[in-house]
Amino acid sequence: MHQSLKQQAIDILRMNDRGGYTVPTARLYPYQWEWDSVFAALGFATFDRDRAWEEIETLFSGQWDDGMVPHIIFHKTDPDYFPGPEMWKSNTVPPSSGHSQPPVAASAMLTMMQTGTDMDRERAKALFHKLYAWHRWFHTYRDPDNTGVVGIIHPWESGRDNCPDWDIGMGRIVVPDDLGDLPRRDITHVDPSERPTAEQYNRYLAIVKFGHECQWDHLEIARNGPFFMVDPCVQFALMRGDRDLAELATEFGEPGIRDEAEAWLKHSKAGCDSFWSDDVGGHVAKDLRTGGLSTAFTNASAMALYADAGSPDQQKRLTAEIAAILDHCSFGFPSWDPRDAQFESRRYWRGPIWSVVNYMIGIGLSEKGETALAERLRNDTRRAVETSGFFEYFDPLTGEGLGGKLFTWTAAIHLAWAMGDDMLQAG
Ligand code: GLC
Repeated sequence: MHQSLKQQAIDILRMNDRGGYTVPTARLYPYQWEWDSVFAALGFATFDRDRAWEEIETLFSGQWDDGMVPHIIFHKTDPDYFPGPEMWKSNTVPPSSGHSQPPVAASAMLTMMQTGTDMDRERAKALFHKLYAWHRWFHTYRDPDNTGVVGIIHPWESGRDNCPDWDIGMGRIVVPDDLGDLPRRDITHVDPSERPTAEQYNRYLAIVKFGHECQWDHLEIARNGPFFMVDPCVQFALMRGDRDLAELATEFGEPGIRDEAEAWLKHSKAGCDSFWSDDVGGHVAKDLRTGGLSTAFTNASAMALYADAGSPDQQKRLTAEIAAILDHCSFGFPSWDPRDAQFESRRYWRGPIWSVVNYMIGIGLSEKGETALAERLRNDTRRAVETSGFFEYFDPLTGEGLGGKLFTWTAAIHLAWAMGDDMLQAG
């Protein structure tokens, strides 16, 4: 069983390979997605190092002049997907979406270097300045007032598309009359009850419209765009990434960049108090326009340990929440607290579990000495795959596989972490 799932995971990565990049899954997501690709690289790194680096190199080939790595790169047009390049109007080659996604590449690159050979070191070094430019972009354009906390301009930038976290900011978006009819493709591929609603989709597209109408002027979007919220997932991925960028800088003899990354990290750690909720017992999403805080613990809240965010007391409190929530679920960490009325066990980021987030939570727990919880999470993640196969996401109560099938990142995380071979444990 163990062996055959491993082989299946390898086969899925090979099957979703489009030559230099992998698609998350055929049809539903036919392009290169940023964080999907980075996790795919971790999966490839367990059996084909060259291909693993190629994935990240192709990702950086879509980097914008200002340093941003976009969330989707449209290497070739595919009419099966909406919203495609004609909606984003990025004016870049290759065409891409107009915002980013959680910056997880620094951490993956460091992990691959620490577990690899001279070749890994050389490939990491060649990408190092591009990586630095991307982190600098986040601090410049997503925190224009230098608060130590980055915002996201679209729920899609969080990677946690329709989490109830975004309902606060989304609720204030006015949908323009001239948006037109939206040819949704996603609901022709999977059950609409497992996808965002039509109303949510119109608001997503209203933000895209604002972006291309100002030619993706990211300072303008951060200051005046329809949506600007703190996402614990992006903030914590960036903090972990800055820590790992500093380590890479030390390795590559770049003390100036190391100092800058360490200063970012220090400032970000101080900023985390601004989105801590005593009611929830964790860090939560926050609307930067109104100051409103989200109301429940999520898998993004549980990433605080991965970033070493929060005071010792806060970390103790949030670890207790993690343990309590895991007691309610048999298949890993849910994207919304199951004790809350808004929890929906089968709808996308409103309850289901996602193995990539479990991976980051698991690393954080184990680094903080919470070995039993970390192992439980890893085992739960593996059992979801054993129960249902390599689905996009899973019902945390039943382990039922949901969304897309034969999914790249679920396969990659199985190989890199959930299977338990420890091939890619960060040092
Ligand atoms: C969905 C997910 C996002 C992911 C993308 C491709 O939009 O919410 O996190 O990157 O699909 O898998």
